[in-house]
Amino acid sequence: MRVLGIETSCDETGVAVFDSDQGLLANTLHSQVKLHADYGGIVPELASRDHIRKLLPLIRESLAYANLSKTDIDGIAYTGGPGLAGALLVGAAVGHSLAWAWNKPAVAIHHMEGHLLSPLLESSPPIFPFCALLVSGGHTMLVAAKRIGAYCVLGESLDDAVGEAFDKTAKLLGLGYPGGAALAKFAEQGDPKRFCFPRPMLNRPGLNFSFSGLKTYTANTLREHGLEAAADIACAFQDAVVDTLVAKCRRALQQTNLNRLVIAGGVSANLALRAQLKIMGVQENVQIYYPRLSFCTDNGAMIAFAGCQRLMAGDRADSRFNVQPRWPLSSLSQL
Ligand code: KG4
Ligand code: ZN
Repeated sequence: MRVLGIETSCDETGVAVFDSDQGLLANTLHSQVKLHADYGGIVPELASRDHIRKLLPLIRESLAYANLSKTDIDGIAYTGGPGLAGALLVGAAVGHSLAWAWNKPAVAIHHMEGHLLSPLLESSPPIFPFCALLVSGGHTMLVAAKRIGAYCVLGESLDDAVGEAFDKTAKLLGLGYPGGAALAKFAEQGDPKRFCFPRPMLNRPGLNFSFSGLKTYTANTLREHGLEAAADIACAFQDAVVDTLVAKCRRALQQTNLNRLVIAGGVSANLALRAQLKIMGVQENVQIYYPRLSFCTDNGAMIAFAGCQRLMAGDRADSRFNVQPRWPLSSLSQL
């Protein structure tokens, strides 16, 4: 089965074609980062309008790249949520319109299921069951995944998502928006011994996260020491986040008795996180799986892949094409 995947939940327009026999045939992406940079954050109305401008050209580009015409497509997958309502509606409306016009089935994909399954696009994919740490701009979750659609959320952030904490801290340090990757780069110049920031919620049982206190601690440290200490502060912030994420992963693996760990979402591109997880993986005898770097952040490939699995299993979108800006991962249907 060959599926066209559409991602428009936030600030990237992603389109891809995934074939169950031949793998990924096309993958195109347009990032809106420049569009929102002047505003220091995502402006939802501008995001929706840009998706409208870019989506059809990207679909044409993907089909042309793979040398396919509409008759070669067996189904359409689009991100149905969670995300910005207006942005989601663009993908849902185009996805459903193409499905009606081409007389092909459509399916709505949960954005975080897309991230969670993204390492399955790689050459040595994880097999179920596994634990997953999903770390993006909107979500921080630890999930036990039994099979596709059978997800138990073990813990999540009670306030800011980890990517959001990176972005807010980067903004504070004058590194622009979205600043996760810039902060990580800047932290390399910092002295890791100068400051030691608190590790949020580590002394409490459970697998939830909280990053807003760390954000305040960072702001206070900056106020006290000034921008001269910015690189050292970036370094201390990142170390505290990484330590917390790694400790919670270790706890989740011990609690579930699983020995495979998937890391996905934008923050999984963070090299300091990867280095510490590698050490933990050796200590705990756990195999760790990532998507390729370009698939850590939002992309159409993960939606095309998840859509292909779901369409093959007979899953279909509701013909009223409601989007779900808030959509619990644990409510998905199991394959
Ligand atoms: O998954 P994603 O593309 O979008 C959402 O679904 O939210 O994640 C974007 C997030 C942003 O907050 C961005 O700053 C963060 O991922 N990010 C990073 C890095 N690369 C992207 N955070 C830390 N280190 C990085 N290298
Ligand atoms: Zn995402």
